[in-house]
Amino acid sequence: MELKDQINKKKLPTHVAVIMDGNGRWAKKKGKHRIFGHKNGVTSVREITEAAAELGIKYLTLYAFSTENWNRPREEIDALMSLLVSSLSSEIKTLMKNNIRLLAIGDLKSLPSNVYKKLNSCIKKTAANTATSLVLAISYSSRWEIADAAKRIALEVSNGEINVEDINSDLLAKYINTLGIPDPDILIRTSGEYRVSNFLLWQIAYSELYFTNTLWPDFRKNNFFEAILNFQNRERRFGKTSEQVS
Ligand code: IPE
Ligand code: IPE
Ligand code: MG
Repeated sequence: MELKDQINKKKLPTHVAVIMDGNGRWAKKKGKHRIFGHKNGVTSVREITEAAAELGIKYLTLYAFSTENWNRPREEIDALMSLLVSSLSSEIKTLMKNNIRLLAIGDLKSLPSNVYKKLNSCIKKTAANTATSLVLAISYSSRWEIADAAKRIALEVSNGEINVEDINSDLLAKYINTLGIPDPDILIRTSGEYRVSNFLLWQIAYSELYFTNTLWPDFRKNNFFEAILNFQNRERRFGKTSEQVS
């Protein structure tokens, strides 16, 4: 039986988040420049987006560029930014065909204006799509997001719009970038690195973590289905006992 057919459609994760890692190493193994790896990573993005839509997964969040990635060599940053623009142009048809809505999280104002404009135009074009939401994390880091939330809450406290006593985790969740998006059920990281790299720190409090050695440009639909199957065999207890949840 095919991997996809082994997946229990009644136990799908609502939200899958992915740290797409290993493009540079993939290219290096082939004797190519890192940017060649990034270009090939776009195919994996398309495959995994389609796979999520095929399964009926409601939210797919992809970590595309972190706040810390601004510290990479200038030419790599430029290549990543232009790849983002060209991929948005070429993949809009994939989004429309699969009824996928594009969203973005991160410090989007820090993006070059052509990237910001392209991103916003794709978000607008796909706004009425209802099947899957594809959330791109761009110029994103969790510490930036949480600090930004703290700043906005402090401002509203000082304006008298909220009381200090009303600050709790439900309120904070309304000030982070993922407002309206449920927490990820599973976080996938490719390339054999066992870390979170400043991604969705607040939101992954109870996410199942899945690590694979596969490098991002090699990651295909079946790798994704494998992760979903692995997720379906876990017991999520949320602090309770096994007897309570089973
Ligand atoms: C992930 O691949 C893509 C981005 C972070 C933009 P890397 O570029 O981090 O590839 P490695 O980890 O160096 O192999
Ligand atoms: C995490 O990958 C960021 C993205 C996938 C966009 P990195 O390659 O930047 O992470 P570190 O530096 O190895 O932790
Ligand atoms: Mg990396």
